[in-house]
Amino acid sequence: MGGRDNVVHGALVYCMIFLLSIGIVFVGFLGLLLSSDTFHLHLQVTDKEPQVPCYFIFGDSLADDGNNNDLPTLAKSNYPPYGVDFPEGPTGRFTDGRLIVDIIAQLLGFHGFIPPFANLKGADILKGVNYASAASGIRDESGSQMGQVISMNKQLSNHFAIVSRIAQIMKSYSAANRYLGKCVYTVITGNNDYINNYFMPEVYPTSRIYTPQQFADVLAKEYSDQLQTLYSFGARKVAVFSAGQIGITPEMIARFGANSSASIDAVVQLFNDQLPSLVGNLNSQLSGAEFILIDTSDVSIDTDGVNVADTCCPTVPELGTCVPGSVPCSNRSEYVFFDGFHTTEVVNEAYAKVAYEEMSLFYNASAYGGVGGISRPAPSWLWNQRVGYSPY
Ligand SMILES: *[C@@H]1O[C@H](CO)[C@@H](O)[C@H](O)[C@H]1NC(C)=O
Ligand SMILES: *[C@@H]1O[C@H](CO)[C@@H](O)[C@H](O)[C@H]1NC(C)=O
Ligand SMILES: *[C@@H]1O[C@H](CO)[C@@H](O)[C@H](O)[C@H]1NC(C)=O
Repeated sequence: MGGRDNVVHGALVYCMIFLLSIGIVFVGFLGLLLSSDTFHLHLQVTDKEPQVPCYFIFGDSLADDGNNNDLPTLAKSNYPPYGVDFPEGPTGRFTDGRLIVDIIAQLLGFHGFIPPFANLKGADILKGVNYASAASGIRDESGSQMGQVISMNKQLSNHFAIVSRIAQIMKSYSAANRYLGKCVYTVITGNNDYINNYFMPEVYPTSRIYTPQQFADVLAKEYSDQLQTLYSFGARKVAVFSAGQIGITPEMIARFGANSSASIDAVVQLFNDQLPSLVGNLNSQLSGAEFILIDTSDVSIDTDGVNVADTCCPTVPELGTCVPGSVPCSNRSEYVFFDGFHTTEVVNEAYAKVAYEEMSLFYNASAYGGVGGISRPAPSWLWNQRVGYSPY
């Protein structure tokens, strides 16, 4: 069965936040499509070592596992019914269960989830850290109408602090650099630069300063600089997620109308159109770089019998987040969206599986003529140019 009407084409759901003239709207949106056989993915947890030694995570609410919990911001989800399907309950994850990055970590063979930078008590930082922050974006100001968020630039400086600690642990920056080149990195960002910035003219001037094409260009340039900074901190195996189809999320439709979905997504697509050459240029200019683009529109969901229009939890009007303490739908697998912007765990599983397969260059050398798994260290001048860096 599965008529085309039941297929959502689209986007990676992203987390974003809106301040509208009438109030504040929190937005997270993921765009993707699943097929029915990926909908119920069985994850094997084994005692084996992970396929890579470490996994570092950057991004927005699609990846945030608790970094905003203690910040003065409205972009939080550390209350029920979030986490209803998560073993630890509400943690600051914007979904019922696991995030895409949690599932990628499991598929890579990690036994626990990658801990948030904001709470590293007892954590082994050599296995990786999650820096992602809900409502944040590539631009420093994106999402700031919600309160404090941790922008990509700030996430990178947090990573630099961790890298310095790893260099201390390993007794030399070159050893740390070699080690960091074996880690996997994912970056899921960009949508809040639209939802919490460009599409919010009441708060941000960007849509008056830039045409959609100009904004896509400046955003891509800034993103490219950030990814080069990540490279300069030793990263080689970096999966960059494209921005999502934010126009089809329930909260965006509630706010702008279903007829606006396509034009909103067309503006975001101008940014996505830059990503293949952005990633290609990084790989050709940076020695040993293995950046890949995860194009979320490659994923498709067979939503037969699944509710794509409504949210699983009752949402706060104009905010899109779950009403605190509300009762969610009884079967989360019957919904694409948990809240107004964020997908349910079952959708996240489908996304994660596709991303993991596309990341096989990072962990499967035999499929790439022995190339996978090998990385060259960053030139030391790149390291040394970072302000305040000291390996000891
Ligand atoms: C949306 O578009 C359809 C088809 O063009 C049109 O019939 C409908 O009136 C529009 N709805 C709104 C709310 O503008
Ligand atoms: C929940 O929904 C899914 C998808 O429709 C279905 O396969 C599953 O059997 C349902 N679970 C329960 C407990 O009803
Ligand atoms: C690695 O690649 C080889 C060759 O394509 C394939 O047979 C194997 O299943 C892959 N292993 C993993 C873990 O993906």
